[in-house]
Amino acid sequence: MIQVNQEFIHSFYKRRNRVSNKGNHGHALLIAGSSSKMGAAIIAAKACLRSGVGLLTLTCSEKEKNVIFNAIPEAMISTDFEIKNQFNCNVIGIGPGIGVNQFSLNYVYQLYDNQLPVVFDADALNVISSYHLDWKNFKFPFVITPHPKEFDRLFETHATHEARMETAVKKALELNTVIVLKSHQTIITDGHHIYINTTGNAGLAKGGSGDALTGMITSFIAQGYSLLHASILGVYLHGLAADITLETQSEESMLITDVIQNIGKAFK
Ligand code: APR
Ligand code: MG
Repeated sequence: MIQVNQEFIHSFYKRRNRVSNKGNHGHALLIAGSSSKMGAAIIAAKACLRSGVGLLTLTCSEKEKNVIFNAIPEAMISTDFEIKNQFNCNVIGIGPGIGVNQFSLNYVYQLYDNQLPVVFDADALNVISSYHLDWKNFKFPFVITPHPKEFDRLFETHATHEARMETAVKKALELNTVIVLKSHQTIITDGHHIYINTTGNAGLAKGGSGDALTGMITSFIAQGYSLLHASILGVYLHGLAADITLETQSEESMLITDVIQNIGKAFK
């Protein structure tokens, strides 16, 4: 097992080029939120932007447009639900708050013709497990970020976390993917190695924390990190930002919004 600490992060972290422009930092597409869960979309989008992406497009329906504009003026909005019409994006993050229904299923079906890398989280994973979709349909590089229950719904029920980790390694290799198995001590695996995170605290044990992580990993893939490095960097900085938040908040009072505001300090 490889410890994900500051030294390890420094071995691959890329400084932003002084002469760069937004075109050098990627364009992420986030498919997140639905009428009663727009918070998930806003959290994922803010975390994505705070992690350095050049451009971000967020999909939403016509009636939710203004909510997003007001919450995140930096994001572009698309009310077109055809993924193939979203031009110039170089990564797709899908799942937080989309719901498990025909509409979300249609989104996942659209990915069958897609070639961009994808981060699957939350309800996108629940769509895959509920509708028994075959992983063979995903012919593009992808990362999955399940919490233990989502993981068990996708694969099988596990009695212990150790058993779950073993399956994660096996499945990452078999599906040629990166698995971020979230918990109080998140592990990341590509099937060859297990990377174990050293940051984070129980202040993250609240709805919305996972949505922020999805935005961060998507952002790092957009910026050119490999799927494995983007996942490791996202998990580490997400936890570190939460640890920094403890300077001003308690584990009880911490909001994911506070954590997102501290992503900057985590980078520093
Ligand atoms: N210590 C450190 N990190 C933690 C801890 C802890 N005690 N508890 C949680 N975390 C981190 C996890 O590692 C992960 O990165 O917080 C994040 C939680 O992510 P999720 O479990 O995906 O939670 P989230 O999506 O924010 O909220 C729950 O998941 O079950 C679904 O539909 C449900 O919308 C709900 C959502
Ligand atoms: Mg989640």
